[in-house]
Amino acid sequence: MILEHKIAVVTGAGQGIGQGIALKLAEKGAHVVVSDVREQTAIDTAAQIETMGRRALGLKADVANRGEILKMVETTIAEFGRIDILVNNAGIARSATLLKLSEEAWNAVLDVNLTGAFRTTQAIARHMIDARYGKIVNISSIYGRTGTVGDSNYASSKAGIVGFTKSIARELARHNINVNAILPGMVDTPLLRGIPDKYLQPMIEEIPLRRVGTPEDIANVAAFLASDEASYITGAAVEVSGGWRM
Ligand SMILES: NC(=O)c1ccc[n+]([C@@H]2O[C@H](COP(=O)([O-])OP(=O)(O)OC[C@H]3O[C@@H](n4cnc5c(N)ncnc54)[C@H](O)[C@@H]3O)[C@@H](O)[C@H]2O)c1
Repeated sequence: MILEHKIAVVTGAGQGIGQGIALKLAEKGAHVVVSDVREQTAIDTAAQIETMGRRALGLKADVANRGEILKMVETTIAEFGRIDILVNNAGIARSATLLKLSEEAWNAVLDVNLTGAFRTTQAIARHMIDARYGKIVNISSIYGRTGTVGDSNYASSKAGIVGFTKSIARELARHNINVNAILPGMVDTPLLRGIPDKYLQPMIEEIPLRRVGTPEDIANVAAFLASDEASYITGAAVEVSGGWRM
């Protein structure tokens, strides 16, 4: 078990990819803090992890709210004493083409997807620096590299995640902290199920491996990057996309 006795925090872990990552980290031996803006989903996922024989906490924390993030980190440190792994996964989309995109929707997506990762990382990196140990995994998107029609706010936030990852990977390397990003392609989660079939099917035909990904496909890579087996990888942007838009 490559993550035995590690303490992990996963944001947006009440459903979808984040939940898949929380469960995978637990399967590999970690104790997990499941944090989500929707408290009940966090509590339910934490309960699922406890049935696997790991310790878990389900905590409400909106990554757009600095106070809630600081409280979540404080509760985690009080309960577990340290944080070894952070997965910045919480993310939203508010789709509109350029001329229809409101400044409010632009700001909301940047605030959760990019500034949320900054807030959470800043709060947790302090503890990792003191401990001289840390693994940070940021969930970006293929769209952060390619852009996309109708989601310029989302694609910008995800491109920002790559720049943030590479910058803090450089800053934190001397503290024995690895920072990497995962760029998922299309993954089967509630976010994806919102896309009408007439748009989805042609996109699946573009994927060389001819299927959408599962949360577990992403979680397997997150668990590896969060482990000491990946200790010589930092600042990487790893595409997990079935070859889509490579
Ligand atoms: N599904 C895909 O195809 C896909 C592709 C590429 C990247 N991603 C990225 O993966 C991540 C997870 O996506 P998903 O598909 O599982 O989405 P999802 O909507 O199924 O789950 C997102 C989770 O984040 C939580 N969340 C939303 N806003 C939050 C906030 N302000 N603070 C804390 N938690 C918040 C939600 O409550 C939910 O539990 C996102 O960053 C998304 O951009 C998804």
